[in-house]
Amino acid sequence: MCGIIGYIGKQKAAPVILEGLKRLEYRGYDSAGVATLYDGHFDTAKKAGRVDGLIKATKAQKLPGTTGIGHTRWATHGGVTDTNAHPHISNDGKIALIHNGVIENYVGIKKFLTGKGYTFTSETDTEVLCNLIDYHYQKEPVTKEGSRFLEAVRKTLRHVEGTYGIAVMCADCPAEIVAARKGSPLILGVGDGEYMLASDVAAIISRTQNVVYLKDGEMVHMTAKNFTITTLEAEDVSPVIDTVSWNIEDAELNGYAHFMEKEIFEQPAALENTMRGRFSEDGSTAQFGGLNISAADFRQIDRFHFLACGSAWHACLVAEHLIERFARVPVEVDYASEFRYRNTPLDRSTLFFTVSQSGETIDTLAAMREAKRKGYKVLAINNVVGSTIAREADGGVYQHVGPEIGVASTKAFTSQLLLGAMLALYIGRMRDMSFSDGVDYVNALKSAPQLVRQVLEQAPKIREIAKRYAHYHDFLFLGRLSLFPVALEGALKLKEISYIHAEGYPAAEMKHGPIALISEQCPSLFLVPAGEMFNKVVSSMQEIKARKGKIIAVLSTGCELPAGLADDVIHIPECHEAVLPIIATVPVQLLSYYITVELGRDVDKPRNLAKSVTVE
Ligand code: M6R
Repeated sequence: MCGIIGYIGKQKAAPVILEGLKRLEYRGYDSAGVATLYDGHFDTAKKAGRVDGLIKATKAQKLPGTTGIGHTRWATHGGVTDTNAHPHISNDGKIALIHNGVIENYVGIKKFLTGKGYTFTSETDTEVLCNLIDYHYQKEPVTKEGSRFLEAVRKTLRHVEGTYGIAVMCADCPAEIVAARKGSPLILGVGDGEYMLASDVAAIISRTQNVVYLKDGEMVHMTAKNFTITTLEAEDVSPVIDTVSWNIEDAELNGYAHFMEKEIFEQPAALENTMRGRFSEDGSTAQFGGLNISAADFRQIDRFHFLACGSAWHACLVAEHLIERFARVPVEVDYASEFRYRNTPLDRSTLFFTVSQSGETIDTLAAMREAKRKGYKVLAINNVVGSTIAREADGGVYQHVGPEIGVASTKAFTSQLLLGAMLALYIGRMRDMSFSDGVDYVNALKSAPQLVRQVLEQAPKIREIAKRYAHYHDFLFLGRLSLFPVALEGALKLKEISYIHAEGYPAAEMKHGPIALISEQCPSLFLVPAGEMFNKVVSSMQEIKARKGKIIAVLSTGCELPAGLADDVIHIPECHEAVLPIIATVPVQLLSYYITVELGRDVDKPRNLAKSVTVE
């Protein structure tokens, strides 16, 4: 989704902003722009396409101003054009604005402004907002000179419905930026003699690790020397400056070809970080610091309800399986986007969990607010520290996997699988799970990083397999029980980065429809672990083979398939059920990654996708 960066300080703003825009590319966007303020006017450059295009096609780096704003746009209102790109400038050249989110009442505001003589060159809601600020700026009494600009923005936002993260400059105020948020993330970076704004930490991490996470309804007024935070109602807010726990190194490729590749290979370390310090001293259960709910209260919970989107939703399906299997407590898993409108009947002794890497996904956030509005406690599993969901939740668990920059979730997903498994253990040990089963379970979880390393060693082999399958247009991913969600995840990974159509199904369900797709042109990837389902999955494979479908098997070491049944086999180590989904995920990640590389597609920035989806 859209990215925001702002700079005010002693350096030329444009190079700082362009570097920040490059670091925001991973969020997904289709055009970019920058404006700096110099000598009472704005120098602006906007371009549809990549940030590199903006840099090449303009002299943006040479812009002289030391105050500036920049934006990556993910189109909502109006097509992907230079004109629709941000920043937008008001009719009289006084106000420059960048905006994330959607102004829902922009049609009415546009009509009002048109009546006042304003004209519009773009199709965006943002240009309307920009001119409304200008309208209020012109009307604001000049006697309040120092705050006239700030108060004009404040007044404007009181008339706005919808969501926004905005940064605004005023041509009359040489070193000032006003920013505000409602529903779209925004942070203030506190640097050495300079301040920055950004929609996420990645944009400014090369300049500072000190940040203030702005809350909904807050505005920040920055000058070159200081900043103040107030609410929309003009109440003062005391800022809390947090230190980001990762640094610029973590956000670099460090020799990998793509962030997705790097993040796949970071998984052993990521899993170690996720579980560090989270097992009891006796080694028989998990422990979590930030749940904000006592063990006694946790024991009273009769039902868990998980809310998430995309890969995080798949992780919840695995958690459902493991919690029901090991803790014997019923679990409901909802798409956050559906839950918020479904008005589902709920049991009072239900505890909610939201799962979100970014902690900013708007549907997950809205679903969480809906559950809280109904009086339920909501705990959050998030990776991004200080994210909106993390801050609004009643408690939760951070994933601690560092920044995930590839649009396709990899290390965040397996970390969510791990936390789901740890929750199943935590809840199970409060109920019927024995001490020795708990110890076995903990040991299995501790072995996960090493088992993942073993799978990663097969990367060259998986790359060769990928070359043989890159030319297909359709794929099925099939698995059972806890590996059905992994099949869904495999299909999502493949389609989102390679654009090959893929579907995930429970293996036995395949004969109720998807088998009609099977031919030599539609291969299937089967997840075939050792255990009670082995023979049943093999039977499903036979049904595919009988129809000439090609088969890749992800097979537990030590298991044997009938000769000729699988065309290609990727081995995974045999392991505990709680760890199996993590281990089985790695081959499907690698296969999708290498197929995409083979096709020459943009792995880290797939078309149309955004890393965190902050509009509904
Ligand atoms: O940040 P979140 O975990 O809330 O994001 C949820 C989905 O948007 C995300 O998992 C998406 O499906 C990824 N592109 C999957 O790779």
